[in-house]
This record gives sequence, structure tokens and C-alpha cells, in this order.
Amino acid sequence: MRRTILMATLTATVMAGAAMAADIQLPEPSKEGGKPLMNALAERQTSREFAETAIPEQKLSDMLWAAYGINRPSEGKRTVPSALNRQEIDLYAIMGSGAYLYNAPSNKLVQVSSEDLRADSGFGEFANKAPLTFVFVINKARQRMSDPMASTTIGAVDSGFIGQNIYLYCASEGMNAVFFATLDKDALATSLKLPKGNTVLYGQTVGFPPAGK
Ligand SMILES: Cc1cc2nc3c(=O)[nH]c(=O)nc-3n(C[C@H](O)[C@H](O)[C@H](O)COP(=O)(O)O)c2cc1C
Repeated sequence: MRRTILMATLTATVMAGAAMAADIQLPEPSKEGGKPLMNALAERQTSREFAETAIPEQKLSDMLWAAYGINRPSEGKRTVPSALNRQEIDLYAIMGSGAYLYNAPSNKLVQVSSEDLRADSGFGEFANKAPLTFVFVINKARQRMSDPMASTTIGAVDSGFIGQNIYLYCASEGMNAVFFATLDKDALATSLKLPKGNTVLYGQTVGFPPAGK
């Protein structure tokens, strides 16, 4: 009996460890460098061609911070504005190793699926092998807006700010990006295990340009 309990405890501990290991603790973002803002604006563009090359964790951390990180820790406020400071957009990262929810305060990607969802989420073909596609989701509980039109409009605006930060980060780092509205929202709601009422809005694929381009 004692042995069974010990085995069960050990198994649970190992499983908890494995679950934690699947999250990605990102390195501290670097908030320096990059191209001057006017140069990044001059180079901002949509590109739908990507190398398969993975994005190094430091770059991933920097990109996420630029996109939606906390820039005023004492107030918990971010690099983007949001209506009523509700910060209602949940930013998911879809990668070959699984799907993750960005947790800005702990600078972590929390794994929500270990499946590679890149080819089955209705993204454009460009996303199938690209290293990373972001998915923008309204978190209904945080947004607290009952009117559907207001909810979607505000969610769209707040996503747009994040999307533009990602475009500018990519322009600054010589990376490619495409923001898009065509994606399988129902499939993603299921595969990301979204709470009922949370709404998928957009996607944005990022990566390095293909060799020689
Ligand atoms: C709200 C929105 C929705 C978009 N949807 C798509 C899309 O579904 N598929 C796609 O390939 N590009 C999409 N795009 C990218 C636009 O086609 C692109 O921004 C536009 O052609 C202008 O090019 P530029 O970004 O290089 O200035 C979308 C852009 C925005 C802002």
C-alpha cells in the first residue's frame, strides 16, 4: 500500500515536472537596440515568404515584449494601449513544438497544446513551415463587454496595435511578417481549449526571409 502511494506520488511529481518543462521560460527581453523608429516605419511591410529557421529564444522574448510586454511594471501597463486598460487580448504563439499563451508578467510561454497546429488552423500556406504564427484572441472575462459589436470592434483595434508592434519589430530585425484575418476560428477555439466566449480574431505569421531573398 505504502509502495503504491509512493509510486503514485512519484508519477504525479514526474508528470507535473514534465508539464512545467513544456512551458518556455523566456530570457529577460532586451529593450535596447533595433533600428531607429523612422527606419523601421520605412521598412515595415507584409511578406508571405518564410525560412523554416527557428526563432532564437532571445529574439522571441524581445519580439513578445515589443508586441505586448509590460513597459511600466509599477502599473502593469504595456507597450500597447487597450480600451479601459482591460488588456483583453490573449496572444497565442503557434509553433512546431506546440501552442502557447504569452504570459507577460512572468515572461513565459505557457503551453496549451503539444500539437503542431500550423497546418491545420486555416492559416495561409505560408504558415505551414514558418516558425511562428501568433493568434489574437479576445478574453471575454477580462474584456467584460456584453455588446457583441463593441466587443469585436474594441478587440480588433487592440489587436491592431499589437500587430503593428510585431510588424515594426520584424522590420527592425530584418524579419518577415504577415497579419491576416483568414483562419479557422472554430478549429482554433477547440485546439487552443479556449474558454467559452473567447473569440479568435486574427493571425500573424513571422519568421526569417528565405535564403537568398
Ligand atoms: C485586418 C487585416 C486583415 C488582413 N487579412 C489578410 C489575409 O487574410 N491574408 C493575407 O494574406 N493578408 C492579409 N492582410 C495583409 C494585407 O493584405 C496587407 O497588409 C496589405 O496588402 C498591405 O500590404 P503591406 O502590409 O505590405 O502594406 C490583412 C491585413 C489586415 C490589416
